[in-house]
Amino acid sequence: MNNFIFNNPVKLIFGKGQISRLSEEIPDGIKIMITYGGGSIKRNGVYDKVITALKKCNSDIIEFGGIEANPDYTTLMKAVKICKDENVDMILAVGGGSIIDGTKFIALASKYKGDDPWDILIKQAQVDDAIPFGTVLTLPATSSEMNNGGVVSRRETKDKYSFGSPLTYAKFSILDPEVIYSLPKRQIANGIVDIFAHTLEQYLTFDNKAMVMDRWAEGLLLTLIELAPKITKEDRSYDDCANYMLTGTMGLNGFISMGVVQDWATHMIGHELTAQKGLDHGQTLAIVYPGTMTVMRKEKKEKLLRYADKVWNITKGKDGSKDSDAIIDAVIEKTDEFFRSVGQKTRLSEYGIGQDTIDTIVSKFKSANWNIGENGIVTPSKVREILESRL
Ligand code: NZQ
Ligand code: ZN
Repeated sequence: MNNFIFNNPVKLIFGKGQISRLSEEIPDGIKIMITYGGGSIKRNGVYDKVITALKKCNSDIIEFGGIEANPDYTTLMKAVKICKDENVDMILAVGGGSIIDGTKFIALASKYKGDDPWDILIKQAQVDDAIPFGTVLTLPATSSEMNNGGVVSRRETKDKYSFGSPLTYAKFSILDPEVIYSLPKRQIANGIVDIFAHTLEQYLTFDNKAMVMDRWAEGLLLTLIELAPKITKEDRSYDDCANYMLTGTMGLNGFISMGVVQDWATHMIGHELTAQKGLDHGQTLAIVYPGTMTVMRKEKKEKLLRYADKVWNITKGKDGSKDSDAIIDAVIEKTDEFFRSVGQKTRLSEYGIGQDTIDTIVSKFKSANWNIGENGIVTPSKVREILESRL
């Protein structure tokens, strides 16, 4: 196991009715900006609950709605201008990963002293101050509510880049599982695959001799597999929603990455698919992950066999043989089937995506000289193989 320092300062407030606690987390008499998306919070009652709670703290409230899924740089820069002009003291993100990520960027860019805030994304320019923010999560998937990362898209240049700073942890995050009742099936399917993929990115590398992290990761994967058929139905029970929501947070809040080398190749390839073709984040992962497993099977052999055994109870190939390649083939097929069972497509051709997009993505990786994955083992030519295996 590698050395590590763990520090996650986010205060989690979890459970039914907890949005009403907002007033206890927000200082009296400040100027607060609420950020949100395309309006789901107005239809499902979350907006009303937030406003009712905020009224108790005599704050001056400004709203910034209309942040897109895959938040766009141009939109976020409009909010940055308002934060600067109005001297906003605090931001409250009410939404899913896109709103929380967008809010993290607004919080940093509003205090950025350099010439071009785009540098926060392409040069990882560090910022020494940020507007504090809290979150009310409405979509379990990214764990953005309890990590310091964010991803911002720029549609005009077909880019999608991530960033992070010690200043982009939320002061608090409120997780009321009842927000899940209004989630459409597509977003549940995206969330399941995203959480599954986050767990694999930290687990499916090589033996890091990190027993706690391995078993913790397997626990999250098994929980998702058990919950998937229940949570994809319209009538979701409160406890299933609660367990699902917490699985999402635990998937990427740093708990399962202690002391281990991580992968993230599938995510980086997926981000390019979103940037080029506009697919949802979860949709890209359902396509790419089985490809990463297939192409990187030698490097990941030990962990793929463990994943097959501990998560899917697969110890033989489909032909009954104990041959490791046969077992790995079976577990890749099982993973693909699982993604399909929650309603995801798993092939590029199902979205009408072909060789031209693969060529564009690979040339981007080549010109940026990106070698991704654990210890940089996924070269641009491996990226090509991974995507071509998913046509
Ligand atoms: O915009 P509104 O109308 O609110 O609708 C949203 C949006 O269309 C809707 N929605 C959210 N909560 C709802 C709801 N609809 C009904 N009921 C509710 N309770 O869902 C749609 C998608 O929302 P979005 O926030 O985009 O989804 P998600 O949480 O999956 O976030 C995706 C973004 O997060 C990034 C992704 O790349 C993508 O840009 N990620 C962030 C990470 C992080 N910060 O650590 C890690 C992830 O790997 C990921 O890359
Ligand atoms: Zn993700």
